[in-house]
Amino acid sequence: MSKLTDRYNRNLNYLRVSITDRCNLKCMYCLPPGGDFRWLAHSEILRYEEILRIIRIGVGLGISKVRITGGEPLVRKGVYAFLEKLGQIPGIKDISLTTNGVLLEKNLERLKTAGIRRLNISLDTLDREKYKRITGHDAFKEVWAGIEKALKLGFHPIKINTVAMNGVNDDELTELALLAKSRPFHMRFIEYMPFTATEEEKRKRLLAPEIMEKIRRIAKLYPLKNTSFDGPAERFRAEGFAGEIGFIRPLSHHFCHKCNRLRLTASGCLRPCLLSDRQTDIKSPLRKGASDDEIVEIFFKAIRYKPMAHTLNSENRENIESVMSSIGG
Ligand code: GTP
Ligand code: 5AD
Repeated sequence: MSKLTDRYNRNLNYLRVSITDRCNLKCMYCLPPGGDFRWLAHSEILRYEEILRIIRIGVGLGISKVRITGGEPLVRKGVYAFLEKLGQIPGIKDISLTTNGVLLEKNLERLKTAGIRRLNISLDTLDREKYKRITGHDAFKEVWAGIEKALKLGFHPIKINTVAMNGVNDDELTELALLAKSRPFHMRFIEYMPFTATEEEKRKRLLAPEIMEKIRRIAKLYPLKNTSFDGPAERFRAEGFAGEIGFIRPLSHHFCHKCNRLRLTASGCLRPCLLSDRQTDIKSPLRKGASDDEIVEIFFKAIRYKPMAHTLNSENRENIESVMSSIGG
Protein backbone atom coordinates (compact mmCIF):
# COMPACT_ATOMS: atom_id res chain seq x y z
CA MET A 1 0.00 0.00 0.00
CA SER A 2 1.41 3.38 -1.03
CA LYS A 3 1.69 6.16 1.54
CA LEU A 4 0.43 8.43 -1.22
CA THR A 5 -3.28 8.27 -0.54
CA ASP A 6 -5.22 11.32 -1.62
CA ARG A 7 -8.25 12.94 0.00
CA TYR A 8 -10.61 10.74 -2.03
CA ASN A 9 -8.84 7.65 -0.75
CA ARG A 10 -7.15 6.85 -4.04
CA ASN A 11 -3.85 5.10 -3.66
CA LEU A 12 -1.20 6.52 -5.98
CA ASN A 13 1.40 3.96 -6.98
CA TYR A 14 1.99 4.88 -10.64
CA LEU A 15 4.34 7.74 -11.57
CA ARG A 16 4.48 8.96 -15.17
CA VAL A 17 7.71 10.81 -15.78
CA SER A 18 8.10 13.13 -18.76
CA ILE A 19 11.84 13.42 -19.39
CA THR A 20 11.57 15.97 -22.21
CA ASP A 21 8.94 18.20 -23.74
CA ARG A 22 10.62 17.89 -27.15
CA CYS A 23 9.25 15.65 -29.84
CA ASN A 24 10.26 14.65 -33.35
CA LEU A 25 6.59 14.65 -34.48
CA LYS A 26 3.87 17.28 -34.45
CA CYS A 27 0.71 15.26 -33.93
CA MET A 28 -2.55 17.08 -34.45
CA TYR A 29 -4.03 15.87 -31.14
CA CYS A 30 -0.98 16.60 -29.08
CA LEU A 31 0.17 20.10 -29.98
CA PRO A 32 -1.92 23.18 -29.26
CA PRO A 33 -4.15 24.46 -32.07
CA GLY A 34 -2.01 26.67 -34.30
CA GLY A 35 1.07 24.76 -33.16
CA ASP A 36 2.27 27.81 -31.25
CA PHE A 37 4.59 26.26 -28.73
CA ARG A 38 7.90 27.07 -27.09
CA TRP A 39 10.24 24.29 -26.03
CA LEU A 40 11.75 24.56 -22.58
CA ALA A 41 15.35 25.72 -22.31
CA HIS A 42 17.90 23.14 -21.27
CA SER A 43 18.26 24.62 -17.78
CA GLU A 44 14.51 24.44 -17.20
CA ILE A 45 14.42 20.69 -17.73
CA LEU A 46 15.08 18.38 -14.83
CA ARG A 47 18.51 16.75 -15.01
CA TYR A 48 18.58 12.95 -14.97
CA GLU A 49 20.12 12.86 -11.47
CA GLU A 50 17.28 15.08 -10.25
CA ILE A 51 14.66 12.84 -11.84
CA LEU A 52 16.26 9.73 -10.33
CA ARG A 53 16.31 11.30 -6.88
CA ILE A 54 12.64 12.27 -7.09
CA ILE A 55 11.71 8.78 -8.29
CA ARG A 56 13.77 7.17 -5.50
CA ILE A 57 11.90 9.24 -2.93
CA GLY A 58 8.57 8.45 -4.63
CA VAL A 59 9.38 4.74 -4.47
CA GLY A 60 10.02 5.15 -0.74
CA LEU A 61 6.45 6.45 -0.53
CA GLY A 62 5.00 3.47 -2.37
CA ILE A 63 5.39 4.24 -6.08
CA SER A 64 5.96 0.85 -7.71
CA LYS A 65 5.20 1.53 -11.36
CA VAL A 66 7.09 4.09 -13.44
CA ARG A 67 6.37 5.05 -17.03
CA ILE A 68 8.78 7.20 -19.01
CA THR A 69 7.16 9.60 -21.47
CA GLY A 70 7.94 12.82 -23.30
CA GLY A 71 7.48 14.73 -25.66
CA GLU A 72 9.26 11.81 -27.22
CA PRO A 73 11.51 10.25 -24.58
CA LEU A 74 13.95 8.72 -27.09
CA VAL A 75 15.02 12.13 -28.42
CA ARG A 76 16.68 13.06 -25.13
CA LYS A 77 20.42 12.50 -25.07
CA GLY A 78 21.57 9.97 -22.49
CA VAL A 79 18.18 8.30 -22.18
CA TYR A 80 19.55 4.72 -22.30
CA ALA A 81 22.04 5.26 -19.47
CA PHE A 82 19.24 6.95 -17.52
CA LEU A 83 16.92 3.96 -18.02
CA GLU A 84 19.65 1.62 -16.84
CA LYS A 85 20.02 3.62 -13.62
CA LEU A 86 16.26 3.71 -13.22
CA GLY A 87 16.22 -0.08 -13.43
CA GLN A 88 18.62 -0.26 -10.50
CA ILE A 89 16.30 1.53 -8.08
CA PRO A 90 15.03 -1.16 -5.73
CA GLY A 91 11.28 -1.33 -5.25
CA ILE A 92 10.10 -0.51 -8.76
CA LYS A 93 8.10 -3.48 -10.03
CA ASP A 94 7.29 -2.16 -13.47
CA ILE A 95 9.16 0.21 -15.79
CA SER A 96 7.78 1.01 -19.18
CA LEU A 97 8.06 3.56 -21.94
CA THR A 98 5.58 5.39 -24.15
CA THR A 99 7.06 6.31 -27.52
CA ASN A 100 5.98 7.40 -30.97
CA GLY A 101 8.25 4.67 -32.33
CA VAL A 102 10.17 6.79 -34.84
CA LEU A 103 13.55 6.04 -33.27
CA LEU A 104 12.75 2.53 -32.10
CA GLU A 105 14.18 0.31 -34.78
CA LYS A 106 17.77 1.29 -34.32
CA ASN A 107 17.57 1.57 -30.55
CA LEU A 108 15.64 -1.48 -29.45
CA GLU A 109 18.73 -3.41 -28.40
CA ARG A 110 19.81 -0.52 -26.22
CA LEU A 111 16.38 -0.39 -24.65
CA LYS A 112 16.56 -4.09 -23.94
CA THR A 113 20.00 -3.78 -22.39
CA ALA A 114 18.66 -0.95 -20.26
CA GLY A 115 16.02 -3.34 -18.91
CA ILE A 116 12.90 -2.18 -20.74
CA ARG A 117 10.65 -5.15 -21.50
CA ARG A 118 7.42 -3.54 -22.50
CA LEU A 119 6.52 -0.65 -24.75
CA ASN A 120 3.51 1.50 -25.57
CA ILE A 121 3.73 2.82 -29.12
CA SER A 122 1.49 5.42 -30.74
CA LEU A 123 0.08 4.54 -34.16
CA ASP A 124 -3.10 6.12 -35.47
CA THR A 125 -3.14 4.90 -39.06
CA LEU A 126 -1.67 2.30 -41.41
CA ASP A 127 -1.65 4.70 -44.31
CA ARG A 128 1.62 6.47 -44.98
CA GLU A 129 0.04 9.65 -46.37
CA LYS A 130 -2.42 9.89 -43.51
CA TYR A 131 0.38 9.31 -41.04
CA LYS A 132 2.08 12.32 -42.52
CA ARG A 133 -1.07 14.38 -42.15
CA ILE A 134 -1.63 13.37 -38.54
CA THR A 135 1.94 13.68 -37.34
CA GLY A 136 3.48 16.20 -39.73
CA HIS A 137 6.24 13.72 -40.68
CA ASP A 138 6.68 10.97 -43.24
CA ALA A 139 7.75 8.39 -40.68
CA PHE A 140 5.22 5.58 -40.97
CA LYS A 141 7.79 3.14 -42.36
CA GLU A 142 10.24 3.75 -39.53
CA VAL A 143 7.55 3.27 -36.91
CA TRP A 144 6.24 0.09 -38.47
CA ALA A 145 9.76 -1.34 -38.81
CA GLY A 146 10.30 -0.55 -35.13
CA ILE A 147 7.09 -2.31 -34.10
CA GLU A 148 7.93 -5.43 -36.09
CA LYS A 149 11.44 -5.58 -34.73
CA ALA A 150 10.22 -5.08 -31.14
CA LEU A 151 8.03 -8.14 -31.63
CA LYS A 152 10.97 -10.17 -32.96
CA LEU A 153 13.14 -9.13 -30.03
CA GLY A 154 10.51 -10.37 -27.58
CA PHE A 155 9.22 -7.14 -26.06
CA HIS A 156 5.93 -7.98 -24.38
CA PRO A 157 3.36 -6.69 -24.23
CA ILE A 158 3.60 -4.24 -27.11
CA LYS A 159 0.70 -1.89 -26.64
CA ILE A 160 -0.34 0.13 -29.66
CA ASN A 161 -2.14 3.38 -28.87
CA THR A 162 -4.57 4.69 -31.45
CA VAL A 163 -6.28 7.99 -30.77
CA ALA A 164 -9.67 7.57 -32.46
CA MET A 165 -10.82 10.66 -34.32
CA ASN A 166 -13.90 11.21 -36.41
CA GLY A 167 -13.08 12.26 -39.95
CA VAL A 168 -9.44 11.31 -39.46
CA ASN A 169 -9.06 7.59 -38.81
CA ASP A 170 -12.60 6.38 -38.05
CA ASP A 171 -12.57 4.44 -41.35
CA GLU A 172 -9.50 2.47 -40.31
CA LEU A 173 -10.25 1.32 -36.80
CA THR A 174 -11.20 -2.26 -37.70
CA GLU A 175 -8.11 -2.60 -39.84
CA LEU A 176 -6.01 -1.40 -36.92
CA ALA A 177 -7.79 -3.82 -34.57
CA LEU A 178 -6.96 -6.67 -36.94
CA LEU A 179 -3.26 -6.09 -36.26
CA ALA A 180 -3.86 -8.02 -33.05
CA LYS A 181 -5.28 -11.02 -34.87
CA SER A 182 -2.09 -12.75 -35.90
CA ARG A 183 0.27 -10.91 -33.57
CA PRO A 184 0.13 -10.57 -29.78
CA PHE A 185 -0.29 -6.79 -29.83
CA HIS A 186 -2.50 -5.04 -27.35
CA MET A 187 -4.41 -2.60 -29.54
CA ARG A 188 -5.84 0.28 -27.53
CA PHE A 189 -8.35 2.76 -28.87
CA ILE A 190 -8.23 6.05 -27.02
CA GLU A 191 -11.00 8.62 -27.01
CA TYR A 192 -9.62 11.87 -28.27
CA MET A 193 -9.31 14.34 -25.40
CA PRO A 194 -9.85 17.88 -26.70
CA PHE A 195 -7.77 20.41 -24.83
CA THR A 196 -9.90 23.26 -26.14
CA ALA A 197 -13.65 23.46 -26.70
CA THR A 198 -13.63 24.59 -30.35
CA GLU A 199 -16.13 23.28 -32.92
CA GLU A 200 -13.32 21.64 -34.88
CA GLU A 201 -12.28 19.69 -31.81
CA LYS A 202 -15.87 18.66 -31.17
CA ARG A 203 -16.19 17.26 -34.69
CA LYS A 204 -13.33 14.83 -34.02
CA ARG A 205 -15.16 13.34 -31.06
CA LEU A 206 -15.56 9.58 -31.36
CA LEU A 207 -16.58 7.67 -28.27
CA ALA A 208 -15.86 4.11 -27.23
CA PRO A 209 -19.39 2.67 -27.71
CA GLU A 210 -19.20 3.59 -31.39
CA ILE A 211 -15.65 2.24 -31.73
CA MET A 212 -16.66 -0.97 -29.97
CA GLU A 213 -19.60 -1.41 -32.31
CA LYS A 214 -17.28 -1.24 -35.30
CA ILE A 215 -14.87 -3.73 -33.78
CA ARG A 216 -17.60 -6.14 -32.71
CA ARG A 217 -18.38 -6.53 -36.42
CA ILE A 218 -15.06 -8.31 -36.88
CA ALA A 219 -14.65 -10.13 -33.56
CA LYS A 220 -16.52 -11.16 -30.43
CA LEU A 221 -15.13 -9.32 -27.42
CA TYR A 222 -14.87 -10.82 -23.93
CA PRO A 223 -13.92 -8.56 -21.00
CA LEU A 224 -10.65 -9.32 -19.25
CA LYS A 225 -9.92 -8.54 -15.62
CA ASN A 226 -7.56 -5.64 -15.01
CA THR A 227 -4.53 -6.29 -12.83
CA SER A 228 -3.42 -3.78 -10.20
CA PHE A 229 -0.66 -2.65 -12.58
CA ASP A 230 -2.96 -1.86 -15.46
CA GLY A 231 -3.42 1.70 -16.58
CA PRO A 232 -6.82 3.02 -17.53
CA ALA A 233 -7.60 0.66 -20.44
CA GLU A 234 -10.68 -1.59 -20.38
CA ARG A 235 -9.26 -4.80 -21.79
CA PHE A 236 -10.96 -7.42 -23.98
CA ARG A 237 -10.01 -10.76 -25.43
CA ALA A 238 -11.11 -10.96 -29.05
CA GLU A 239 -12.15 -14.39 -30.27
CA GLY A 240 -9.51 -15.88 -32.53
CA PHE A 241 -7.00 -13.10 -31.85
CA ALA A 242 -3.44 -13.58 -30.63
CA GLY A 243 -3.45 -10.19 -28.96
CA GLU A 244 -6.10 -8.14 -27.20
CA ILE A 245 -8.19 -5.05 -27.68
CA GLY A 246 -8.52 -2.24 -25.17
CA PHE A 247 -10.42 1.00 -24.83
CA ILE A 248 -9.30 4.08 -22.96
CA ARG A 249 -12.37 6.18 -22.44
CA PRO A 250 -11.73 9.37 -20.51
CA LEU A 251 -14.95 10.87 -21.91
CA SER A 252 -17.58 8.16 -22.16
CA HIS A 253 -16.66 6.33 -18.96
CA HIS A 254 -14.07 8.26 -17.07
CA PHE A 255 -11.88 6.35 -14.69
CA CYS A 256 -10.98 9.20 -12.32
CA HIS A 257 -12.44 7.40 -9.28
CA LYS A 258 -9.79 4.72 -9.60
CA CYS A 259 -6.96 6.92 -10.85
CA ASN A 260 -3.66 5.75 -9.35
CA ARG A 261 -1.43 8.21 -11.25
CA LEU A 262 0.82 11.09 -10.47
CA ARG A 263 2.99 12.84 -13.05
CA LEU A 264 6.41 14.43 -12.95
CA THR A 265 6.73 17.01 -15.72
CA ALA A 266 9.95 17.67 -17.61
CA SER A 267 9.93 21.17 -16.13
CA GLY A 268 10.02 19.72 -12.63
CA CYS A 269 6.49 19.83 -11.29
CA LEU A 270 4.37 17.15 -9.70
CA ARG A 271 1.10 17.10 -11.60
CA PRO A 272 -1.65 15.09 -9.94
CA CYS A 273 -4.10 15.11 -12.86
CA LEU A 274 -3.47 14.96 -16.60
CA LEU A 275 -6.40 17.27 -17.21
CA SER A 276 -5.75 19.94 -14.61
CA ASP A 277 -2.98 22.51 -14.52
CA ARG A 278 -2.81 22.56 -10.74
CA GLN A 279 0.70 21.31 -10.15
CA THR A 280 3.43 21.71 -7.54
CA ASP A 281 6.96 22.87 -8.20
CA ILE A 282 9.53 20.33 -7.00
CA LYS A 283 12.51 21.53 -9.06
CA SER A 284 13.10 24.84 -7.27
CA PRO A 285 13.22 23.38 -3.76
CA LEU A 286 15.39 20.54 -5.06
CA ARG A 287 17.84 22.99 -6.60
CA LYS A 288 17.89 25.02 -3.40
CA GLY A 289 19.12 21.96 -1.53
CA ALA A 290 15.92 20.48 -0.09
CA SER A 291 16.40 17.40 2.08
CA ASP A 292 14.67 14.09 1.29
CA ASP A 293 12.14 14.81 4.05
CA GLU A 294 11.32 18.15 2.47
CA ILE A 295 10.83 16.47 -0.91
CA VAL A 296 8.50 13.96 0.75
CA GLU A 297 6.44 16.90 2.02
CA ILE A 298 6.21 18.23 -1.55
CA PHE A 299 4.76 14.88 -2.69
CA PHE A 300 2.13 15.13 0.05
CA LYS A 301 1.37 18.72 -0.82
CA ALA A 302 0.98 17.87 -4.53
CA ILE A 303 -1.49 15.06 -4.00
CA ARG A 304 -3.71 17.30 -1.87
CA TYR A 305 -4.57 19.05 -5.13
CA LYS A 306 -5.59 15.94 -7.03
CA PRO A 307 -9.12 16.71 -8.20
CA MET A 308 -11.92 14.21 -7.75
CA ALA A 309 -12.49 14.10 -11.51
CA HIS A 310 -11.58 15.91 -14.68
CA THR A 311 -14.00 18.44 -16.14
CA LEU A 312 -13.71 17.73 -19.89
CA ASN A 313 -17.37 16.74 -20.10
CA SER A 314 -18.65 19.61 -18.04
CA GLU A 315 -20.15 22.94 -19.13
CA ASN A 316 -17.68 24.70 -16.84
CA ARG A 317 -14.64 22.80 -18.00
CA GLU A 318 -11.32 23.82 -16.55
CA ASN A 319 -9.17 25.75 -18.96
CA ILE A 320 -5.95 23.79 -19.59
CA GLU A 321 -2.93 25.84 -20.62
CA SER A 322 -0.46 22.95 -20.71
CA VAL A 323 -0.20 20.93 -23.88
CA MET A 324 -0.35 17.17 -24.16
CA SER A 325 3.00 17.06 -25.91
CA SER A 326 4.74 18.27 -22.78
CA ILE A 327 2.66 16.33 -20.24
CA GLY A 328 3.32 13.04 -22.02
CA GLY A 329 -0.26 11.77 -22.06
P1 GTP B 1 -0.22 0.93 -19.15
O1 GTP B 1 0.60 0.92 -17.95
O2 GTP B 1 0.48 0.18 -20.22
O3 GTP B 1 -1.61 0.46 -18.97
O4 GTP B 1 -0.17 2.44 -19.62
P2 GTP B 1 -1.15 3.61 -19.86
O5 GTP B 1 -2.28 3.19 -20.70
O6 GTP B 1 -1.44 4.23 -18.53
O7 GTP B 1 -0.16 4.60 -20.64
P3 GTP B 1 -0.04 5.26 -22.07
O8 GTP B 1 1.12 6.20 -21.97
O9 GTP B 1 0.02 4.25 -23.13
O10 GTP B 1 -1.36 6.11 -22.20
C1 GTP B 1 -2.46 5.71 -22.97
C2 GTP B 1 -3.53 6.77 -22.96
O11 GTP B 1 -4.12 6.86 -21.69
C3 GTP B 1 -3.04 8.16 -23.33
O12 GTP B 1 -3.92 8.78 -24.22
C4 GTP B 1 -3.05 8.86 -22.02
O13 GTP B 1 -3.22 10.22 -22.17
C5 GTP B 1 -4.25 8.21 -21.34
N1 GTP B 1 -4.12 8.35 -19.91
C6 GTP B 1 -3.15 7.86 -19.13
N2 GTP B 1 -3.33 8.27 -17.86
C7 GTP B 1 -4.45 9.05 -17.86
C8 GTP B 1 -5.15 9.79 -16.86
O14 GTP B 1 -4.75 9.82 -15.71
N3 GTP B 1 -6.25 10.48 -17.25
C9 GTP B 1 -6.69 10.47 -18.52
N4 GTP B 1 -7.80 11.15 -18.80
N5 GTP B 1 -6.06 9.79 -19.50
C10 GTP B 1 -4.95 9.10 -19.17
N1 5AD C 1 -6.29 12.59 -26.63
C1 5AD C 1 -6.07 11.26 -26.42
N2 5AD C 1 -4.85 10.71 -26.43
C2 5AD C 1 -3.81 11.50 -26.67
N3 5AD C 1 -2.49 11.23 -26.76
C3 5AD C 1 -1.85 12.38 -26.99
N4 5AD C 1 -2.71 13.41 -27.10
C4 5AD C 1 -3.95 12.87 -26.90
C5 5AD C 1 -5.26 13.42 -26.88
N5 5AD C 1 -5.49 14.73 -27.08
C6 5AD C 1 -1.92 9.88 -26.60
C7 5AD C 1 -0.86 9.55 -27.63
C8 5AD C 1 0.08 8.64 -26.88
C9 5AD C 1 -0.36 8.73 -25.45
C10 5AD C 1 0.74 8.92 -24.48
O1 5AD C 1 -1.23 9.82 -25.38
O2 5AD C 1 -1.39 8.88 -28.72
O3 5AD C 1 -0.02 7.32 -27.30
